[in-house]
Amino acid sequence: MVGREKELTIHFVPGSCQLVEEDVNVPSRRALITGATGLLGRAVYKEFEKNNWHAVGCGYSRARPRFEQVNLLDTHAVHDIIQDFQPHVIVHCAAERRPDVVENQPDAASQLNVDASGNLAKEAAGIGAFLIYISSDYVFDGTNPPYTEDDTPNPLNLYGKTKLQGEKAVLENNVGAAVLRIPVLYGEVEKLEESAVTVMFDKVQFSNKSANMDHWQQRFPTNVKDVASVCRQLAEKRMLDPTIKGTFHWSGNEQMTKYEMACAIADAFNLPNSHLRPVTDSPVLGAPRPRNAQLNCSKLENLGIGQRTPFRVGIKESLWPFLIDKRWRQTVFH
Ligand SMILES: NC(=O)c1ccc[n+]([C@@H]2O[C@H](COP(=O)([O-])OP(=O)(O)OC[C@H]3O[C@@H](n4cnc5c(N)ncnc54)[C@H](OP(=O)(O)O)[C@@H]3O)[C@@H](O)[C@H]2O)c1
Repeated sequence: MVGREKELTIHFVPGSCQLVEEDVNVPSRRALITGATGLLGRAVYKEFEKNNWHAVGCGYSRARPRFEQVNLLDTHAVHDIIQDFQPHVIVHCAAERRPDVVENQPDAASQLNVDASGNLAKEAAGIGAFLIYISSDYVFDGTNPPYTEDDTPNPLNLYGKTKLQGEKAVLENNVGAAVLRIPVLYGEVEKLEESAVTVMFDKVQFSNKSANMDHWQQRFPTNVKDVASVCRQLAEKRMLDPTIKGTFHWSGNEQMTKYEMACAIADAFNLPNSHLRPVTDSPVLGAPRPRNAQLNCSKLENLGIGQRTPFRVGIKESLWPFLIDKRWRQTVFH
C-alpha cells in the first residue's frame, strides 16, 4: 500500500549545508479532508495520516501554512484540487455550524452548507472518490428519540435545515456517497469557544460566581477523535465493499444536559460545582433547539464500526491546557 517518492532534504554538518535527494514512503491511499482547520477536521486529518493514508487537509481563513487554502465556494478551486490530488476518499467537514450565525447570515450559510456540498459531491463522483458528508442530529425535531437513519427528519432551525438540504444535495449528485450524522462535539480545542461543551470550562472554574446552566436539552457529547476513527473505519470498509453508502449515525452514549456536563467537568478536575445552577425551562433566546435528538447508531455498530471515549476521560484530555493554573504558568514562563 506504500509508494516511494523523492524528497529534497537539507543536511547540516559543521561547516557545510547540503541539499540531498532522499526516498520517502508515500501511502498510496489518498484522503482529502475539508474543514481540516476546524474542530472535527483537525482530528480527521490526524486519524487518516497516522493510519497509513496520504492525507491532504483544506482550510480557508486558517489554512496557511499547514493546509491547502481552498474556498469551497470557488468551484474552479475545488475542481483543481480534486483533479490534482485524485483522492480515494473525501471527508467533508467544512460547514457553518453555529445555529445563531446561520439564522443571521442565511444566504452565506446555505451557499457553504448546501451548494458547496453538492458541488463537492459532483466532483467526487467525477473521479469515483468516496465522499463522507458530515451532518448533524439537528436534522431531527427531538420529539421522538432515539432516531434511526430511516426516521423522517424535521429540523427546527435554519442550521438543521441547511444540513438536511446539504445531505440531499450530496446524495443527488453522488449516489455512492455517505452521510454521517453526529451530535454535539468536543475535543482538543484551539480556544474554549470552539465547542459548545468546552466553552463551559471557565464558568466551571470561576467558582466564586454562580452560573446558570441549561438542564432542559438532552445531549450526547461526542469526542472528535471517536468521530474521526469512525470516518476512517467507514472509508476502509467501503474500499473493500462498494455497497457501503447512504446515511449513518454516530454518537457518544452518555446522555447529559449542559448542567450535567458542567458537573462532570468539575468532577473530572476535582473542582466545586455548588455555584452551577440547573435551568429546567426551555431556552427562549437564540435559534430553537431539539429537546432530545438521540441518534440510534446500531447500523454502524452492526458493521463492526465504532469507538467511544468515556466523557470524563475525553474532556480531561481536552481541557487540561486551559486550567487557570496552567494558563498562569504559561504566561509567566513562556
Ligand atoms: N461542532 C459540533 O458540535 C457539531 C455537531 C454536529 C455536527 N457538526 C458538523 O461537523 C462538521 C465539522 O464541524 P466543526 O465543529 O469542526 O466546525 P468548525 O470548527 O466551525 O470548522 C469549520 C471549518 O469550515 C471551514 N470553512 C468555513 N468556510 C469555508 C469556505 N468558504 N471554504 C472552505 N472551508 C471553509 C473552516 O475553515 P477556516 O477556519 O480555515 O476558515 C473550518 O475548517 C460540520 O459539518 C458541522 O455541521 C458539528
